[in-house]
Amino acid sequence: MSLVTTEEGAAVKSICILGAGYVGGPTGAVLADRCPGVNVHVADVDAGRIGQWSQGPLPIHEPGLEVIVSRCRGRNLFFTTDLGTAIDGAEIVFICVPTPTKAHGKGAGMAADVSAIEQACREIKAHARGYKIVVEKSTVPCGTAASIAGLLQGDGAGAFDVLSNPEFMAEGTAIADLSEPDRVLIGAHPSGTSAAAQERLVGVYAQWIPRERILRMSSWSAELGKLAANAMLAQRISSMNALSGICEAVGADVEEVALAVGRDRRIGGAFLRAGPGFGGSCFQKDLLSLVYLARTLHLDAVAEYWAQVLQINAWQQGRLVDTVVARLHGTVAGKRVAVLGVAFKPGTGDTRESPAIGVVAGLLREGAVVRVHDPVVPAKGIQRALGGAVEVCADAYAACEGADGVVLCTGWEEFRALDYARIHGRMRRPANLFDACLLLDRAPLERLGFSVFGIGKGRGK
Ligand code: UDX
Ligand code: UDX
Repeated sequence: MSLVTTEEGAAVKSICILGAGYVGGPTGAVLADRCPGVNVHVADVDAGRIGQWSQGPLPIHEPGLEVIVSRCRGRNLFFTTDLGTAIDGAEIVFICVPTPTKAHGKGAGMAADVSAIEQACREIKAHARGYKIVVEKSTVPCGTAASIAGLLQGDGAGAFDVLSNPEFMAEGTAIADLSEPDRVLIGAHPSGTSAAAQERLVGVYAQWIPRERILRMSSWSAELGKLAANAMLAQRISSMNALSGICEAVGADVEEVALAVGRDRRIGGAFLRAGPGFGGSCFQKDLLSLVYLARTLHLDAVAEYWAQVLQINAWQQGRLVDTVVARLHGTVAGKRVAVLGVAFKPGTGDTRESPAIGVVAGLLREGAVVRVHDPVVPAKGIQRALGGAVEVCADAYAACEGADGVVLCTGWEEFRALDYARIHGRMRRPANLFDACLLLDRAPLERLGFSVFGIGKGRGK
């Protein structure tokens, strides 16, 4: 059945995804599942990862992903390391390779490293024998669509159009985010030369997404829109974390303040949860990219404005360490502190930029003996994230054995169900519990004899 519509031309029949990671894998799976008439080839340079996608277990865990991959794999969803064949056989090529923060050279520590994007473009140029629509889905610096077009032009090159189609998936809800997105951005060069290409990509998404949610715009707006969305989500979190410090000092309750603010329909209640700070591979990376963009445009006030969102995030982690030290009588040197939770948020095994990293580093600097447990992150993942100076424990009880303090750094549901009477019985006195995720009901804990600190909970709260 071909979906031929006037403004979109012939329906797309084949798509290639470059990069089989957190972004490329789920994107390819949902495209194949929602567009049974389209063949989707997901290509990656990492043979091990392709092997996992092809035979299992899948390299990433997202609710709903396994069933979709099983349904489509071998039917119209394929995983390969043969980038050339996948590119040449596709009408649309999505670039989903990583764009981490640069570690070296100009802009190191702030600018996005687009070397993988360039490598993907060279692969496309080398293997494309006819017209291709190239789509940047990775989060990229503003203006990358133009530089991709520049990379793809040149002698002997086929004809290309470049579109910007940033992803808005959150880990743990990637399939839902792809299946029912609030919006799909499709950016094209304002000159209109890519209008036909833009309509063809609209035709793909329109097979399952209401057309009013598919937004056409310029590439620059799409690229900046992605950075701006993440920056404003992170800004809400840093605003609540900044307020949590005031709440503790004046006796207010940050959750009550969040309610007071969030019930205003112009503000809304989402992303107002104070905690140990935001983690994940995206918020910090995208904020740094935005700050760097402002700096390169000599908009220093703008750069400083967005940099403060990151500054508050680091401040919140440092403040939590200071609170632990203060409540353990001014020093944690030689004392045992248990840190429960290393994943950057519950529901994932991803530790990238997790707040636990800053908190554990601070405790170690203060001379604490730190034991950690996470219900999902494997021991080697914890060691990789936190370094070798921590002791990884198989369960929370072992981590809390003989501890002076317990710090909840990830709001895992498992931590709500722990036997805190058993934990209290095995800790030194006074037994201090620091609920950085506002996960626990403090009254029963205080009745057990714990001294409880909750982020943003004023004196006596
Ligand atoms: C990453 C960023 O996290 C995200 O913000 C950005 O929008 C897209 O890039 P992610 O899927 O999380 O997305 O990256 P990752 O899980 O590291 O997977 C990237 C995959 O690309 C890896 O499997 C890697 O082997 C592959 N890759 C990398 C290529 O196929 N070619 C390259 O040149 C480089
Ligand atoms: C985010 C964006 O939500 C997504 O749209 C974008 O495409 C990628 O980046 P992700 O980083 O996977 O997704 O997770 P998210 O759920 O946004 O949480 C990010 C961090 O913020 C986590 O550490 C989480 O614990 C923290 N957070 C979230 C808060 O501290 N408070 C909140 O209210 C919400």
